[in-house]
Amino acid sequence: KKVVLSGIQPSGLITIGNYLGAVKNWAEIQEQYRCVFMIANLHATTVRQEPAALRKNTLEAYAMLLACGVDPKRSIVFVQSQNPHHTELMWALNCYTQFGELSRMTQFKDKSARYADNVNAGLFTYPTLMAADILLYQADYVPVGIDQKQHVELTRDIAQRMNGVLGNLFTMPECLFPKAGAKIMALTDPTKKMSKSDPNPKSYVAVLDPKDTVIKKFKSAVTDSGSGICRAEGKEGIGNLMTIYSAFTGKSDEEITAEFEGRGYGDFKLAVGETVADVLAPVRERFAALMRDRAYLDACCAEGLEQAMRISQRTRDKVYKKIGFFL
Ligand code: TYM
Repeated sequence: KKVVLSGIQPSGLITIGNYLGAVKNWAEIQEQYRCVFMIANLHATTVRQEPAALRKNTLEAYAMLLACGVDPKRSIVFVQSQNPHHTELMWALNCYTQFGELSRMTQFKDKSARYADNVNAGLFTYPTLMAADILLYQADYVPVGIDQKQHVELTRDIAQRMNGVLGNLFTMPECLFPKAGAKIMALTDPTKKMSKSDPNPKSYVAVLDPKDTVIKKFKSAVTDSGSGICRAEGKEGIGNLMTIYSAFTGKSDEEITAEFEGRGYGDFKLAVGETVADVLAPVRERFAALMRDRAYLDACCAEGLEQAMRISQRTRDKVYKKIGFFL
């Protein structure tokens, strides 16, 4: 089987952007691939974290993956910081990555502007840690949203360079985007990506939002003042809602346009809200049940870590040996 690796930061809540861009897809490809999924808590500390909150968010993110259908019996699911091979490989990758390459990362440019008082070295080398995550497991595919594309491309550049200098070390990874939902936009501004770090909670729908909140948020979604449920220039808000509706129902754009023929934006927004809330209801229930079973989550983490380390050790040792480090 081909190998898949992906990760998500434990940032307190998971939006339908994370769900459609990544996690829903992860649950769906588990049969087809050998999957490794991780909670990227090392990545999370590139911005200031309150220790108790980080610990809680890490466990909740883990439970959320399982609630969304990631099966710890079929896939390897673990917490990044518990596996030391990630930072160990990162060091080696750092020495094969140029300052200029990291400076060109758009996420670094955005975040260093947004968090100007804390442009730390971890924020700068974030992509080489992500490259280590991917390359350690010799991943063929990386299921992510569009915003991670540049990081995966850098991973390929580093892998190719090291393969060239040191001999064959790494499998070349490729992005795997979902059919619909690789880039979900903010409900308050369809030109901006939906993001859990947006200070306005109306801009995103969280997987754990209760039904009435979900409906209210879709009701107040920013759209144009025209009519007709279709994609067109100036109708980016409606287009984004169509993408969300399509990803949650499997319906095509044509089917959606036909379904809402002659009906107004209000009807459409309500339908999207109800559909999203209904699909997410069982996820919320499973999440609550999992959070009541700490012993089970701890056992899954331990098992996932052991399986992950068995794989990552091989790559880490191979690289360290080629470089000339003592083993
Ligand atoms: P993170 O935690 O920001 O996001 C997790 C996943 O959600 C996707 N995503 C979206 N997809 C569609 N529309 C959106 N509005 C949207 N917002 C977020 C992201 O593309 C991502 O797939 N660096 C990564 C975590 C990571 C990782 C890795 C991923 C660490 N190591 C190795 C893949 C491989 C991140 O911060 O994702």
